[in-house]
Amino acid sequence: MRSKIGKKGGLISAVVNPTDNGRLEFFDKACLLWNEQGLITYFSPSMPTADQMAGHEILLRENMIALPGLIDLHTHLPQYEFAAQGAAALLPWLTNYTFPQEARFADDAVAELQSLNFFESCLSQGTTTVVAYLTNHLSAAEIAFEEAARAGIRAYLGLTLMDRNVPPELLTDARRAEKDMASLIGKYHNKARSQFVVTPRFAISCSAELLSLCGEVSRAHQTLLQTHISENQHEITETLRLFPEAKSYAAVYDHYGCLHERSLLGHGIHLSDDERLLIRDRRSVIVHCPVSNNFLGSGIMPYSRWQKEHLRLGLGTDVAAGYSLSMLHEARQMTEMAKLRAFFDDEDCVVDIETALSQATIGNARAIQRDDIGCFAIGKRADIAVVDDSRCETLSDEERNHYASLKERLARVVYRHHPEMVTLTLIDGEIVFAREKT
Ligand code: GUN
Ligand code: FE
Repeated sequence: MRSKIGKKGGLISAVVNPTDNGRLEFFDKACLLWNEQGLITYFSPSMPTADQMAGHEILLRENMIALPGLIDLHTHLPQYEFAAQGAAALLPWLTNYTFPQEARFADDAVAELQSLNFFESCLSQGTTTVVAYLTNHLSAAEIAFEEAARAGIRAYLGLTLMDRNVPPELLTDARRAEKDMASLIGKYHNKARSQFVVTPRFAISCSAELLSLCGEVSRAHQTLLQTHISENQHEITETLRLFPEAKSYAAVYDHYGCLHERSLLGHGIHLSDDERLLIRDRRSVIVHCPVSNNFLGSGIMPYSRWQKEHLRLGLGTDVAAGYSLSMLHEARQMTEMAKLRAFFDDEDCVVDIETALSQATIGNARAIQRDDIGCFAIGKRADIAVVDDSRCETLSDEERNHYASLKERLARVVYRHHPEMVTLTLIDGEIVFAREKT
C-alpha cells in the first residue's frame, strides 16, 4: 500500500483545518504542496502557479475533504480483536476478557497478525499517530514496533507493566521491566516514526517499586508515560486500599514520580478538586475516552469544565473498552456524552464538533508536545486524512445539495460516519493507506 517516500507532492480538495483557538477553518477548495521530506511548503485557497507546482505529483480530490491526520492518544493494540465484547464494569471486564486476550500475545504468531491488523485499521480510519499499550511480552512488543515501521504509522508504544494482582502469565518484576525497557528504548525509541512509552498499567497492578522505576525511566529518557487513573469507583477504592498512606489516587502516581509533562492519564473521570490541581501543577495530560467510558458505564468526564480549569486534555479511543478505532466516531461520542452531562449536571458542559475535531488533531498533537503535526501550515508535516463524504448513508443529489456547505458536510461526516469514509491517508506526504486506486 505504501507509495515511494521522497516525492514532492500535493493535494487539491476541500480542507478543514484546526486553528490555535479550538475552532476550525473551512476551505471549499485549497491546495497543499509538500517537499521530498514531507514538509508542507504551500497551503492556500488560491491555486499555485504552474511554476510552483512543477515537479509535484498532485492528487486531485476536489469532491472530498482533507483533515489533518487524526491522533489517537490512548488505545490498546492487543485488545482490538475483542472490541464490543463483554460490556461490564471495569474490573470484571479486565478479568474476564482483557487479561485472557493479552495472555495470547505470548505467541509471536498472534502478536504479528494482530499488530498488522491493528496498524492497518488505524490508517484506514485516518489515524496517522497512535499512542498505544501493548502487552507485557517483550517479543510481542518488538513485533509491534517492527509492524508499525512497516505500516509507516507514527506509533508511540508501551510494554504494559504489571507486577501484582493480575494472572501470573502477565506478571513482570522491576528488574525484568528495567531490562526490557532498556532494550526496547535502545532498539526503537526515536527510530523510524516510533517512540517508546513507559507504561505502568494502573496502580492496582503495580508495586511501589515498579511505579518508581517508571517515573525514573520516563524522566531519564524523556519518554511519554501512560497509565490509567480514576476511571471507576471500585478501581479508586481498591487503589486507596493498596496505597493506604496516599492522600488520593493522583497522589500515588505523584509520589513515585509518574506525574510530569509527558504523562498521559487515561480517563480521570472522578478526579477530586485537589487531584486536578495536582495534575495541573505537574502539567500532566488527562486523556478523555468517551466511547469507552460509555461502554463500561464508567461515567462522563466534564471535558469543557476541565478545559476552563486549564487542565491539559487529550482524546483517545481506548479500544477495546472503546469499540471503534475511529477518531471521527470518538469525536461524535465526545459531543453526545457532553450533552448528557450538561443535561444532568446543570452546567455548561457542551462540546461542539469543532472542539472535538480540534482535540483529535491539533489538541492531541500539543498534548504529546508535537508542534509539527495536527494542523496544516507551512513547515508542518503533510499528515492527511482524505474523507469521501459521499460515502455517508446515501442521500439523493437533490437532498445533498440542501446541506452542502463544508460545515454541513463535516457534520454529516461526524454524525453519519461510515467505516469506509476515509479513502486516503498520508504521512509525511507518503500514501500509507488508499481505499481507492490512486
Ligand atoms: N485500567 C487498567 N487497564 C485497563 C484497560 O485495559 N482498559 C481500560 N479501559 N481501563 C484499564
Ligand atoms: Fe485504556
